[in-house]
Amino acid sequence: MSSPIRRIAINTGGGDAPGLNAVIRSVVIAAMHRGWECYGIREGFNGIMFPERYPEGGVLRLTRDKVKGIAHLGGTILGTTNKGNPLHFPMKMPDGSTRDLDRSDEILEFFAKKELDALVSIGGDGSLTIANALHLKGLRVVGVPKTIDNDLDKTFTTFGFDTAVGFATECLDRLHSTAESHQRVMVVEVMGRYAGWIALHSGIAGGAHAILIPEIPFNLDKVAEKILDRDRDGRMYSIVVVAEGAEPAHGHREVLQPAEIGHAERLGGIGERITRALQEKTGKDARVVVLGHLLRGGSPTSFDRLAAMRFGTAAVRALEQGLSGVMVALAFPNVNYVALEDVAGRMKGVPLDCDTLQTGRDMGITFGD
Ligand code: F6P
Repeated sequence: MSSPIRRIAINTGGGDAPGLNAVIRSVVIAAMHRGWECYGIREGFNGIMFPERYPEGGVLRLTRDKVKGIAHLGGTILGTTNKGNPLHFPMKMPDGSTRDLDRSDEILEFFAKKELDALVSIGGDGSLTIANALHLKGLRVVGVPKTIDNDLDKTFTTFGFDTAVGFATECLDRLHSTAESHQRVMVVEVMGRYAGWIALHSGIAGGAHAILIPEIPFNLDKVAEKILDRDRDGRMYSIVVVAEGAEPAHGHREVLQPAEIGHAERLGGIGERITRALQEKTGKDARVVVLGHLLRGGSPTSFDRLAAMRFGTAAVRALEQGLSGVMVALAFPNVNYVALEDVAGRMKGVPLDCDTLQTGRDMGITFGD
């Protein structure tokens, strides 16, 4: 039987996503109802690794006042980082080289010193892998799935995804009129890492004519063919949505920055590359729009806000029930708990037999295959 909880910590790690603040608020309120105190760790685990950087010592006491009126705000009041993974921490050596150190014991020591009984860790694959490692070392941890990419396994969706898809769809709506007026090809590059969820959902909802996703290696001749077919039918413009991680059947993925210790590779640039190629192949004027970090901003949709609050309060209930090493997940119609070890390091791509993909095909959209 685990000891009763009195004080918990919350952290947000990885790229931010709309809904983080709604999770924080819901965790704090649900915890306060149980008489627990809440503390927020600054910028992932940086508040613990570098307490001297923060005026309050790297950890914020989260009172009811601190979380007042934040549920609708994008970003995270705690700050976040997708660098400095404590399991693979980059340390500069005197000879100028960088070594990969495991500093996770410092986190456990910090929890013991501050008498923090448990952690609610809100993050994507990287953060949940760290959460699982901390759980295996004996910390009581519950994970909350966050990412605009929707690429986490064992949950129907993550919060942040709906907001990103909604914004991308609105951008596509706006691009139709200018594309049509100028009889152009508009290429829209969206985020998503190695998964095509944002491209697929926004592309179908926003009436794209071609959608290129990492799960389906593409042949650009097929896309050019589609564009020229549309021209022959008198529909002189086309919209192409490309996921940042999409790759040609014969070629390579575009990487902006290679991986370093404690930091994954940065993707991007495929939009520009295929725009040039499509212009050449079709003889049509083409332009690229990269939505990039705009997809991570803004106020969470009501779906994401509600998911965030359901996840946050479920995380508190999990701790109350003595659970650890689990992630809150959405399994329609309810939330449930799945083992962190079944989520860590696994990516959920678009299944090739899903009906959403089939919907796109039935709507005449090409996937470049
Ligand atoms: O995982 C969220 C995400 O926005 C990805 O879609 C994207 O590849 C990555 O983060 C970008 O990260 P950064 O903030 O380092 O540019």
